[in-house]
Amino acid sequence: METIKVESPANIAFIKYWGQKNHQLVLPNNDSFSMNLSGCKTQVTFEKQTDKKARKLLIKNYQSKEYILASDGEMIKVNDFYDTAKKYLHTDQDFGFTISSENSFPKKAGIASSAAFFSALALAFSLAWGKKLTKKQLSILARLSGSGSACRSIGDGFNWWEKGEDSDSSYAQSIASPQYWDLVDLVAILSKEEKKIGSQEGHKNVFSSPFYQFRLQDVVRRSKAITQAFIKKDFTHFGELMEEEALSMHFVMMTQQPPLYYWSGKTIELIKQLLILRNKGIEAYYTIDAGENLHLICEQKSLLKVKSFLDTNKDVQDIIINYPTEGTKLL
Ligand code: DP6
Repeated sequence: METIKVESPANIAFIKYWGQKNHQLVLPNNDSFSMNLSGCKTQVTFEKQTDKKARKLLIKNYQSKEYILASDGEMIKVNDFYDTAKKYLHTDQDFGFTISSENSFPKKAGIASSAAFFSALALAFSLAWGKKLTKKQLSILARLSGSGSACRSIGDGFNWWEKGEDSDSSYAQSIASPQYWDLVDLVAILSKEEKKIGSQEGHKNVFSSPFYQFRLQDVVRRSKAITQAFIKKDFTHFGELMEEEALSMHFVMMTQQPPLYYWSGKTIELIKQLLILRNKGIEAYYTIDAGENLHLICEQKSLLKVKSFLDTNKDVQDIIINYPTEGTKLL
């Protein structure tokens, strides 16, 4: 029995991926840009089985002590990805497997748990089939899992996903190492509940929002501007653009049909408190994915102050501190 152990981080997008031009191939409508999260990792232990029918997915959730059997829905996604990977890798060999996945953070709470899992699985599958892929190929394979943002967890540090024209040109690449900028992402956990509607459902309905066409133009301008701020390490401008971007995506989410309200009252309250903190000269900016939890981004020099701001907030159940980190790797 062959065992492969891999680890992969979740990532937080500063420029978001929302909406696809091709659902089957998971081709996005715009480029996106993210940072890998050191405190939000998934470890996948992949045991190859000779019995081709033996397939099992075991999950150990955040703060849990034991593995539980995955739901049918989760198993279907893994089986679909197995078929996709087999095709992508041009192989007709089959095998069974036991996958044990362990998260260091709550899944389905807007912290890209599927990105961490599927990027790890892309590496595990390719190795199980005896293929040594380049980072570009791994990123494409991770994207094809259906969890598109998984393609941004492969490279180290900060990754840029070019939307591309077709499957071969749509992949993410590292544009800066983890050491490039000492940014910190403090995830303020306001709820550990799993989100009810997944991103993959949401991507399909973006054009029903009257604001989506505007977003598609505006995100191009913002992507250029945030690149300049990133090059100059101009944190104020970087943070302002990041918040503008989160709002742009959530306007679309809330105005598409059916609407997606990921924010809760606690989300808004915390944003208001953050604005007060900023007026006192402590620079932290927020972004939000498909969940009510807030990601507060600051520079290392402000970390202690931002952390104590969150420590004293009654709605914050937990804080996960993240630094930029390396991408998917074999352990
Ligand atoms: C809001 O389709 O990659 O996080 O299946 O949950 O991994 P999952 O999501 P995916 O969409 C990501 C949407 C987003 C924005 C982003 O990360 O760019």
